[in-house]
Amino acid sequence: MARITTASIREKKQNKEKITMLTAYDYGMALLVDEAGIDMILVGDSVGNVQLSYENTLAVTMEDMVHHTKAVVRASKNAMVVADLPFLSYHVSVEEAVRNAGRLIQEGGAQAVKLEGGEERLPVVRAILDAEIPIVAHIGLTPQSVNQFGGFKVQGKDLETARKLIQDAKLLEEAGVFSIVLEGVPSALAQRITASLTIPTIGIGAGPDCDGQVLVINDMLGISRGHIPKFVKKFADLAPIIIQAMEDYKEEVEKGTFPGKEHCYTIKDDVLEKLY
Ligand code: KIV
Repeated sequence: MARITTASIREKKQNKEKITMLTAYDYGMALLVDEAGIDMILVGDSVGNVQLSYENTLAVTMEDMVHHTKAVVRASKNAMVVADLPFLSYHVSVEEAVRNAGRLIQEGGAQAVKLEGGEERLPVVRAILDAEIPIVAHIGLTPQSVNQFGGFKVQGKDLETARKLIQDAKLLEEAGVFSIVLEGVPSALAQRITASLTIPTIGIGAGPDCDGQVLVINDMLGISRGHIPKFVKKFADLAPIIIQAMEDYKEEVEKGTFPGKEHCYTIKDDVLEKLY
């Protein structure tokens, strides 16, 4: 199977085929995501919440993103790897934004970058695209704006913000991004935005009419602890299975039943005898 490209992602929309995306942050999990045939692996800045135990994504750095992107890229053979530009890596200047996007491609090995925001980010979007770096845009409940929003709140529920989201999506498409993540927006609005674009939308908490879906891997596998958003479906409930395996291991080690014969290496008796 050939690697998924920006062209194949666009084609999926034309052919009315749904697009799948999941996050991954490390080599082991990315191997499984790739093996499952998921189209796109997002090295999300949700690494901050999921792997680094931060309250939100704001503390995630470029170093974190490059480090995790490298691990995921080494695992992925077919999926397209998209790496998040973290907070403040594309807000200070256009030049810094291009350099940071370039690092995710050149050092990290990603095929595309994702960044949050609409009209206000167009100069940065255009400059990154000028550097031949494909972009997935991200609008709606953009987690890097948590302090501006005053919490993780669904966006686009009133006329003004709904209109802005429709306009942002159009402007981002015109600028040349190849896909847009819609997060935390009413399903009917996501449906309108999706229908108005030729590029695909990828929804998270944006209903079934987006061209694709994305979920945070730990949430959908049932290994996240704490609050789980309403839009998450647990496709597995792995935490109890993992904990049970660890309890069994603890018990067997403590009782001395692990390791068994089948887990041990042998040495010839004559070698052993000569030791004494
Ligand atoms: O960082 C992330 O995981 C994301 C998804 C929620 C889309 O941006």
